[in-house]
Amino acid sequence: MRKKIVAGNWKMNMNLAEGLKFAGEIDRYFRDKPKGNVEVILCTPYIHLSGIAEILRGGKIFLGAQNCAAEVSGAFTGEVSAGMIKSTGAEFVIIGHSERRTYYNEDDTLLNKKTILALGSGLKVVFCCGEVVGERESGKHLSVVKRQLEEGLFSLSEKEMEEIVIAYEPVWAIGTGLTATPWQAQEMHQYIRGLVSEKYGKGCADSLTILYGGSCKPSNAADIFSKPDVDGGLIGGASLKKEDFIAIVEAA
Ligand code: 13P
Repeated sequence: MRKKIVAGNWKMNMNLAEGLKFAGEIDRYFRDKPKGNVEVILCTPYIHLSGIAEILRGGKIFLGAQNCAAEVSGAFTGEVSAGMIKSTGAEFVIIGHSERRTYYNEDDTLLNKKTILALGSGLKVVFCCGEVVGERESGKHLSVVKRQLEEGLFSLSEKEMEEIVIAYEPVWAIGTGLTATPWQAQEMHQYIRGLVSEKYGKGCADSLTILYGGSCKPSNAADIFSKPDVDGGLIGGASLKKEDFIAIVEAA
């Protein structure tokens, strides 16, 4: 059976003290619970990583970053490499979030480079894809996601593909309160699994975790997660509220 995951993407929220306190609360809540089959990941700003890694040590929650540099090391002022992220104790990195694609002009070629560097540093990658509203309205959503996966991921080997989680995040649903219907999510997730199956075989596709992201909240999570190809969620706004985030994990 493939792994279910609920990952919180804090984006650029919470100062250091707030983040450590919040992670401590989430950690304590899950530490006392029996281990279910849902993996919980907190994807925090860089500044929180090493402190939160200490807090999470020996517990059930995993840690991730939200981006990494496209270079290994050197004179790249302001950048943080995948190796540096790994050295904090984090195990995951989000690559290709639509906010990176849109605000920082990250294209498929760059995202492919980042993915390869992250895997080479021993990180697992949550690779994001998803269409903008015009692409959905003109019926291009499937072909857009196909291109993002082919150019961003499909140069990887089958072995590398095992370290990938795909997150489908329709851009029109991110932070807007509009959610894809469970059926829209299922259609895309099934399509993605089919593409992975064509490229890497059915075994690889069947064990691939595919997350939904975009205005996921306690009131809609159970419905979306009930679809057969939806293996959990990548949660933005609702991951900043303890009760909401816990309720979404429990829905999974
Ligand atoms: P929201 O849950 O705030 O819509 O954000 C989704 C997201 O971008 C997660 O990466």
